[in-house]
Amino acid sequence: MNRRYRKTIIAGNWKMNKTPKEARALVEELRPLIAKAKWCTTVLCVPFVDISAALKATRATKIAIGAQNLYYEPAGAYTGEVSASMLAEMGVKYVIVGHSERRALFGDTDVIVNKKVHAALNAGLKPIICVGESLEEREQDVTAEVIRKQVKIALMGVTADQIRKLVIAYEPIWAIGTGKTATVEQAGAVCTLIRDTVRELFGARAARSLTIQYGGSMNEKNAAALLAELNIDGGLIGGASLKPESFKAIVDAANQ
Ligand code: 13P
Repeated sequence: MNRRYRKTIIAGNWKMNKTPKEARALVEELRPLIAKAKWCTTVLCVPFVDISAALKATRATKIAIGAQNLYYEPAGAYTGEVSASMLAEMGVKYVIVGHSERRALFGDTDVIVNKKVHAALNAGLKPIICVGESLEEREQDVTAEVIRKQVKIALMGVTADQIRKLVIAYEPIWAIGTGKTATVEQAGAVCTLIRDTVRELFGARAARSLTIQYGGSMNEKNAAALLAELNIDGGLIGGASLKPESFKAIVDAANQ
């Protein structure tokens, strides 16, 4: 039923893994395994230096390439940064914004995330906006407040029409890279809260069009149950996206 309104998207987040040569080899291994995905869009979010190799290796396939970050200014004296238009011109379609690792290690605040969302949308890139609570926040029972604040600030100034051009990924920080997945109920509840928040801000039609992913130790064993949730429209996969058979199994689960 979700498919009528919005895309199912399985995206791999390779994080800081794979050199360009290794990237090419991994994409070539993955390509035949996920090429048949009909009902879901597959995206590989690779390190900046791997983008070129990944684009080449996915030419004439339906696999989209994404980046893992961008800077919000269009150009200028920002040593080491990469702009939205640089990515768009290469052929990148998606960009992860506000991943918890960037928030924790590189100072991405909600306001910076919002600026990056606008930069991505203005360049025609689809931002995958990550939100998620820490273990402490969950234990203090403030998950809903944290998620609503992150969503509301990330979407400041965005129009209802732009909602279908972006993705929100719910990634509880305590589930990332820990092997500890949120339960289907926990993940489903927060993804529902995200859609309710977007409905409040942008209306029912926009909310229906929004793809919401779950991320955090998603793997071949738990993917089907998570993806069966009404408000979970895909996954943002870390560790398992580097293992071709695991990633294939997740894509297959989304393709049911
Ligand atoms: P893991 O799947 O390795 O837990 O990572 C999730 C993630 O951070 C994806 O962005």
